[in-house]
Amino acid sequence: MLTLLTSMYLLVRAVSTQAEPIRVVVTGAAGQIAYSLLYSIAKGDVFGQDQPIVLILLDIPPMLPVLDGVVMELQDCALPLLREVIPTDKVEVGFKDIDAAILVGSMPRKEGMERKDLLKANVAIFKTQGAALDKYAKKTVKVLVVGNPANTNCLIASKSAPSIPKENFSCLTRLDHNRARSQVAMRCGVSSDSVKNVIIWGNHSSTQYPDVHHAMVDLHGSEKPAYDAVKDDTWLRGDFISTVQQRGAAVIKARKLSSAMSAAKAICDHMRDIWFGTPEGEFTSMGIYSSENTYGVPKDLIYSFPVQIKDKTWKIVEGLAINDFSQSKLDATAAELIEERDTAVAFLGV
Ligand code: NAD
Ligand code: LMR
Repeated sequence: MLTLLTSMYLLVRAVSTQAEPIRVVVTGAAGQIAYSLLYSIAKGDVFGQDQPIVLILLDIPPMLPVLDGVVMELQDCALPLLREVIPTDKVEVGFKDIDAAILVGSMPRKEGMERKDLLKANVAIFKTQGAALDKYAKKTVKVLVVGNPANTNCLIASKSAPSIPKENFSCLTRLDHNRARSQVAMRCGVSSDSVKNVIIWGNHSSTQYPDVHHAMVDLHGSEKPAYDAVKDDTWLRGDFISTVQQRGAAVIKARKLSSAMSAAKAICDHMRDIWFGTPEGEFTSMGIYSSENTYGVPKDLIYSFPVQIKDKTWKIVEGLAINDFSQSKLDATAAELIEERDTAVAFLGV
């Protein structure tokens, strides 16, 4: 009996590992985030342990020699799911028939800058890459924009790819979400998985609003609203918010480089949730296209909302009570996004 079960298991496994490989492109593949990210993707942490992958590494021409080194290292990892690695500096190669695009490639900010100071340096990249996605990628492609200013770059990429549904585009605010989760967990002396349903609203910038009014904390077996678990409203309305808002800048000040390990982890969390869905009863945060004035957020922005994901489709968590304190913060971060969008649109003429 045991032998029969073992053979059946091996057969199922053999069949499942013969699944068609998916094509995943990472841009900025010679950079520091990519260096922390590629191994996790290639070993199956994001798209599943039975999903073979063709990994396409896109960067600019001067970085091709560096990409060669990254390719060698990926080969040397001897990862069974990694069917092929394609280094390239050409969007027509990079985006051809892809299933998932992780758009990291762009300039990071330096100490003393705000992320929106990168707008003029970076947004043109996302116009070009949006147009290339439109032309070469599968229409079902899931696009995650990481390069800053992530929300506005994502909006421009999506506007430049009219044949791909706007819902397929999202930007990374999962790093802020993880930061918020971790800050509350440390404050309560519990592990980060004991904290759920924090929300990042708005822009991945210092106007973002980390909100724990709907978060729950498992305090050693008893689940409590975050405000009751933390028991320090002054901290939750003050230093907690500013710590999360300013965390990227604090990392840059300390490392002289922007966050990479934590960004890569957040990218994996974000894409894995798109592929496999969010756990029952939980939501996450991601920058998505605002089309309905939900929570009073103006239309035509990429704005971070609480979402639940099923069958690779997100849905905004609706009906959450928003007090005046929160509403003013939701509005402030929306105002900044409108300003960024208008600057980008005028600059690019899109
Ligand atoms: P990095 O400088 O180490 O790497 C960036 C890479 O992008 C470089 O290899 C560069 O050659 C490449 N690149 C530049 N233009 C490109 C183009 N047109 N096509 C393809 N590749 C291109 O930077 P990094 O630390 O990896 O950060 C990358 C971006 O991610 C920055 O904009 C940074 O601010 C942003 N970031 C966002 C988050 C987030 O949470 N949204 C978190 C961390 C970093
Ligand atoms: C972060 O949040 O760490 C990144 O967006 C990098 C930055 O510029 O802060």
